[in-house]
Amino acid sequence: MRCVRCGSEGARYALSFARAAFCRECYVSRFERKLRSTVLKYGMHRVMRRTLVAVSGGKDSVALLAGLKRAFGDLDLTALYIDLGIPNYSERSEEVVRRVCERLGVPLMVHELKSSEGVSIPELAVGRFRRKPCAVCGTVKRHVLNRIAVENGFDTVATGHNLDDTVEVLFELYRRGLLEEAARLRPVLLGNGANLANRVKPLFEMTDEEDLYYVDALELEHVDSWCPLVRGSRMVSRKQLVLEIESKIPGFRHTLLKAHVKRVLPLLDAAVPRVETRPCKSCGQPTTSDVCAYCRTVTGLKARAPGPGG
Ligand code: AMP
Ligand code: FES
Ligand code: ZN
Repeated sequence: MRCVRCGSEGARYALSFARAAFCRECYVSRFERKLRSTVLKYGMHRVMRRTLVAVSGGKDSVALLAGLKRAFGDLDLTALYIDLGIPNYSERSEEVVRRVCERLGVPLMVHELKSSEGVSIPELAVGRFRRKPCAVCGTVKRHVLNRIAVENGFDTVATGHNLDDTVEVLFELYRRGLLEEAARLRPVLLGNGANLANRVKPLFEMTDEEDLYYVDALELEHVDSWCPLVRGSRMVSRKQLVLEIESKIPGFRHTLLKAHVKRVLPLLDAAVPRVETRPCKSCGQPTTSDVCAYCRTVTGLKARAPGPGG
């Protein structure tokens, strides 16, 4: 295969949706150019004065950290790894994140759930959450990311959510008519300058494949297995389903994402009433009810958990 950019033989990164293949150097520069243009297009750079980059060790967040660092030399970046307490997986991921941050020269903060919150994800994935650990895990991660950002003076949290993640969730939200949630699925969510940090998703327009090729091209280490708790989840089957549709309708994912951003979001902005938030009575983070989802989950489960020796 020839590289579509420089014409050299031995192009190893073929993007089927773009009908193009690239050599290593051209792929890296294509990815970084695209990342830069996404960040500028959605105005992310305007809110990224001090950015906390959430890095799980997976291909997406490793690509995110490397891409931001390489494409924007002047950004003030700090990585955050949340140790969820998942046996083997969390330890292995933390080691990967430590090495990646060291190689990229980005400072790293590690937040251990068990010692700081008193519970780990496996301990929370019980009762009504037994079958959906990812739901409780998502609530905990959102809370912790925001709290650490606010407490440490970061204005923005960047996550590695990419196009495939967004399309998978959109698929589900549209299917169930959850429009308020669909209205929040966007590349930039502004905070309130007080207890809610801005959130940005610089990989919003990148596919799983593009992120994977980038870390491969830069020879960056990453964790290439799913979290063990996610096995058998609907999310995995939905992602596979979206890829099957894409194989029959090339461009399906890009069209859906573009339609959402350009056509649906402006209508939702006008139609969906803005929800007022107030500080959670327990932790002070913004919520729509008296006590936030995180406090209800964590405090409720901690209360029911058997005490020492129980
Ligand atoms: P996930 O919720 O696993 O789909 O991950 C989405 C994004 O959340 C990742 O790309 C990261 O930016 C962030 N993230 C997930 N898990 C962690 C973690 N353990 N520590 C820090 N950030 C995380
Ligand atoms: Fe959240 Fe596995 S990383 S359930
Ligand atoms: Zn709370």
